[in-house]
Amino acid sequence: MNNVEIDMNNVPQHIAIIMDGNGRWATERGKERSFGHQAGVDTVRRITSECTRLGVKYLTLYTFSTENWNRPADEVAALMGLVLTSLEDEIFMKNNVRFRVIGDIGRLPAPVREKLQQTMDNTAGNSAMTMVVALSYSSRWEITEAVRTISRKVAEGTLQVDSISEEDVARHLTTNFMPDPDLLIRTGGELRVSNYLLWQIAYSELYFCDTYWPDFCEADLHKAIASYQGRQRRFGKTEEQVENDNNTPVTK
Ligand code: IPE
Ligand code: IPE
Ligand code: MG
Repeated sequence: MNNVEIDMNNVPQHIAIIMDGNGRWATERGKERSFGHQAGVDTVRRITSECTRLGVKYLTLYTFSTENWNRPADEVAALMGLVLTSLEDEIFMKNNVRFRVIGDIGRLPAPVREKLQQTMDNTAGNSAMTMVVALSYSSRWEITEAVRTISRKVAEGTLQVDSISEEDVARHLTTNFMPDPDLLIRTGGELRVSNYLLWQIAYSELYFCDTYWPDFCEADLHKAIASYQGRQRRFGKTEEQVENDNNTPVTK
């Protein structure tokens, strides 16, 4: 595949990815689905390292959804095993990447929870990029949790109903430590968001490709970024307004 040119001055600050297609990739090769998940880990490594090279600040990877708990027990066990074995501090240190996790962590097996905590602690000082893994995550779960917490504060009298703002809602989501995604990529050919970051992608640019996650390579990432760079983000304004805003010199 030919590599497309990307503008290094306009790289998305936050890229979110729905890494889909591992199972089909493996099935097409006559292998177990878990073989596809294993291959997907290699893709995570390559794409993480390429994102740091490009200067992306946040990479949020949909790894296991709340709904994925309904998969056959052996596939769930294989995925949990992969989380345990694939979190290698060395790789995070080499790339200066901070690791974070979002999701309903309480549902994960104890050894997985411990490993996640250890990796977060060991990489907390890294600063090139934050890699966020969404594990046992779904947006509706997250929003429901936020509603519960906010309601509790209202009941206690520490938050006034009429003062609740969009910022307050965002502050109660698990993603409160990062900006919203600029670009959302979904691999594997499906045209849906499967309960991922519903609040946060309100104004993200969406990019869908047919490539199965294990085959997604640096050139595919560049293509997605080039597509993003070819779009005008208007946030409700007109084309003319956005162009004028961009041409207005910044005054101090
Ligand atoms: C994505 O690949 C990884 C997870 C959801 C854990 P899939 O396992 O959904 O792969 P397909 O969609 O069945 O090919
Ligand atoms: C979405 O993929 C979840 C992850 C990539 C972790 P799925 O394969 O579970 O999504 P659906 O069920 O096809 O929408
Ligand atoms: Mg899938």
